[in-house]
Amino acid sequence: MNNLVVKIEKSGNRYNAWDINGNKYTSQISIGARKKAFEKGTALEQRVNKAGKNYWWAVPMSEFEQNLIPVNTGDIEVPQEHQEVLNYIHSSYSLKPVGLVMNELKWKYLVRSAVRGKNIMMTGPSGCGKTLAAKSLVNALERPDFYFNLGATQDPRATLIGNVHFEKSKGTYFSESLFVKAIQTPNAVILLDELSRAHPEAWNILMTVLDSGQRYLRLDEQDGQATINVAEGVTFIATANIGNEYTSTRVVDKALMDRFTIIEMDVLTNTEELGLLQYMFPNVDVEALDAVSQISYQTRVESQGENPKISNGISTRTSVEISGLLFDGFSLPEASEITIYPQYSNDGGLDSERTYVKQLVQKFIKDDRTADESLFNEDEVEASDKIDH
Ligand SMILES: Nc1ncnc2c1ncn2[C@@H]1O[C@H](COP(=O)(O)OP(=O)(O)OP(=O)(O)O)[C@@H](O)[C@H]1O
Ligand SMILES: [Mg+2]
Repeated sequence: MNNLVVKIEKSGNRYNAWDINGNKYTSQISIGARKKAFEKGTALEQRVNKAGKNYWWAVPMSEFEQNLIPVNTGDIEVPQEHQEVLNYIHSSYSLKPVGLVMNELKWKYLVRSAVRGKNIMMTGPSGCGKTLAAKSLVNALERPDFYFNLGATQDPRATLIGNVHFEKSKGTYFSESLFVKAIQTPNAVILLDELSRAHPEAWNILMTVLDSGQRYLRLDEQDGQATINVAEGVTFIATANIGNEYTSTRVVDKALMDRFTIIEMDVLTNTEELGLLQYMFPNVDVEALDAVSQISYQTRVESQGENPKISNGISTRTSVEISGLLFDGFSLPEASEITIYPQYSNDGGLDSERTYVKQLVQKFIKDDRTADESLFNEDEVEASDKIDH
């Protein structure tokens, strides 16, 4: 095996030591040795003296560079040849994490769109796995990735472009956003989460960035450099909950939507959902998990029906939450009271959405405990204590 060889790089006023894999050894080497190696252009090799102690010995830079050839230099592998791309896409289902339920065709289409540099928009109701799917794709691609939650930003200009600051010593200056850095990173995968909830100002800024014929960001604030080009190979993945009246989702601008390949997340069937819950909570009673998936499924069917008594179905997110509560020793009535009922309006008393959902849940309650009982009885506390100790 080759000895460890490091190269010194100057960063600010520091002399940092890096090995070929990007591991930092600065703290193990004296400052004098690092500075000297940097100034003389040599590499440093780790050796062991007779007493068994490590020391660092100057060696020609070629000793460092020879390692560069066989080892992966950290370059991003992006398939280029058509055959390679085909193989990659069609074997990509194995890259999908087991914990994400998404059918094979959709997943492959997602991978294909990313590999082909298309902008992707994942749509679907709240809690159906859009963010999870987008993040899973980003993980599968092994490309530099950046995450922006546009639903949470109050100031789109600051998030997407940057800020203008003033300091007495420097005067007015511009500090660019992480987004500016992201779009200049070749082959980056940029996640634009909750684009549908973003401020319309954000949509305006993104128009030129996302347009395949333009691909630039306009920096109004910065003098001299009016626009920044999006680097080669950059892919954008956005999420939007569309067709979802009860959130503050704004209707996304048509022109913006046109800039994306739309991939609609499917809402899970009850069998798919039960499979997911069993995978996530193998220690929870299957019957209880089945009840959860049935309740959720029936609310979804009802909300999609002709004269629906409820306006929304229970999401997979909520099903997962309920199952987590069951795992922690809460009963189904308790878990429903906490997670499901607050999502349904009380208006209309006995005809309210909440009454409907309560009655539905009642059908699946087997034991005689009621939601009015205190959250814990002693047995449950003991049982949940045992879980992770
Ligand atoms: N298809 C799915 N496969 C696996 N888990 C899912 C799926 N859909 C939802 N979940 C579960 O629900 C949680 C929430 O999903 P996610 O955050 O992806 O929803 P979303 O569609 O982005 O919702 P929102 O529109 O509210 O942002 C996930 O962390 C996961 O536990
Ligand atoms: Mg989301």
